[in-house]
Amino acid sequence: MGIFIHIHLIAAIAWIGGSVFMFVLGVSLRDKAKQKQVYPHIGPIFGYFEVVSILILLITGTIMIINDGLFDLLFSNDHSLVIETLRKKLWIVLAIVVATVIHFIIAFKTNNTERTKLQNMVSRGSSLLIFFLNLFVLHYAIVIRSIMN
Ligand code: HEM
Repeated sequence: MGIFIHIHLIAAIAWIGGSVFMFVLGVSLRDKAKQKQVYPHIGPIFGYFEVVSILILLITGTIMIINDGLFDLLFSNDHSLVIETLRKKLWIVLAIVVATVIHFIIAFKTNNTERTKLQNMVSRGSSLLIFFLNLFVLHYAIVIRSIMN
């Protein structure tokens, strides 16, 4: 077991743990006045924490794919279970990255200001989407590991 899988796993814990915590916070902190006190402070810290986590996931994941000789197989017409599952995982990661960028653009634009209804909907929708997509990525990561072992 190499160093990159260890770093990748710590980043995955941080990334998913952060999103689960924010989900719980969103569900439990319903009071609008309290939200206005808490979110402007927590938002940017959480944002940078999550950006660092996902960058580490992308970098270490890419390194492992190259080191394991999987890069060329990903773009070939190999239909083995491990490559198919890895492709599924990476498509979901792409969706997560897109949803994260959208979520961040709104967050940066509107921290400390009132949001429009549309901004609110897109922001909440994207974070809920990221939350559920994370569970699928985790599932596929576990399937890949169990095939490789
Ligand atoms: C939201 C993003 C991601 C999460 C939550 C995540 C999660 C994980 C987890 C939990 C494992 C360990 C599986 C196990 O040991 O059971 C893993 C392994 C791995 N991940 Fe990711 N990952 C993410 C993104 C990526 C990306 C972007 C890549 C590639 C560009 C990638 C490539 C890999 C590879 C090659 C392994 C090693 C396979 C193995 O030996 O099990 N991951 N990932």
